[in-house]
Amino acid sequence: MNVPNHVAIIMDGNGRWALERGLKRSEGHLEGSKTLEKLAIHAINMGVKVLSVYAFSTDNFKRDKAEIDYLMNLIVKYFNTKFEKINKNGIKVVISGRKTNLRDDVLEAINNIEEKTKDNSKGILNICFNYGGQEEIIDGAIKLAQDLNKGLDIKNFKREDFYKYLYHDLPPIDLLIRTGGELRVSNFMLYQMSYSEFYFTNTYFPDFDKSEFNKALFMFENRDRRFGGINEKNK
Ligand code: FPP
Repeated sequence: MNVPNHVAIIMDGNGRWALERGLKRSEGHLEGSKTLEKLAIHAINMGVKVLSVYAFSTDNFKRDKAEIDYLMNLIVKYFNTKFEKINKNGIKVVISGRKTNLRDDVLEAINNIEEKTKDNSKGILNICFNYGGQEEIIDGAIKLAQDLNKGLDIKNFKREDFYKYLYHDLPPIDLLIRTGGELRVSNFMLYQMSYSEFYFTNTYFPDFDKSEFNKALFMFENRDRRFGGINEKNK
């Protein structure tokens, strides 16, 4: 099987999953966290090397304080205690996003999980948190400008060279999945998705289990990726 090296997921539909069951939106986020934990282990076991997920965007700060607080508390709890299985499965956890506007206990939990899993080598779970794709490009451009001031020669600077200015130097995305039925990319990893295949599903994220994930892998296997070139059979 031709397994994508880097899969990214926009985990949408937690709120609707909960409301349709007469539950509070927060219960959808809780269920989504359980799904994420299982999915990360499954994806890495299937041979995916990097799984990136959109957990909280810079724009999610527009939500009600109660929902923001719930998500922050959930992240702290998961990073500090619940990610033990992820760690035991050899997965390195990295967090992408701005470190501004975050509570001290959230920053501490981010440090804890990155530190605890830093020597793991089976695969990487990249959690995008307080994250925006345009913001990541701006922050990278600022770092590049600082290197320019220090004398960096950019005469032969190529698109591959910009990856190391992003929050983490990860490979390009091969497969982008969005759950929850919307057809947009919502300021997610814009630089890294330039040649990714897209898979959209109506399934809400809490219901996006291993078999739903495998459907996306099968679809990917049958896509004809040309990266701007021409397939041999069409020449
Ligand atoms: C989008 O669904 C989802 C989010 C804004 C949060 C996603 C967060 C998680 C799955 C939890 C992550 C947990 C850890 C431990 C990293 P929505 O609320 O916009 O759903 P809706 O479109 O149905 O309203």
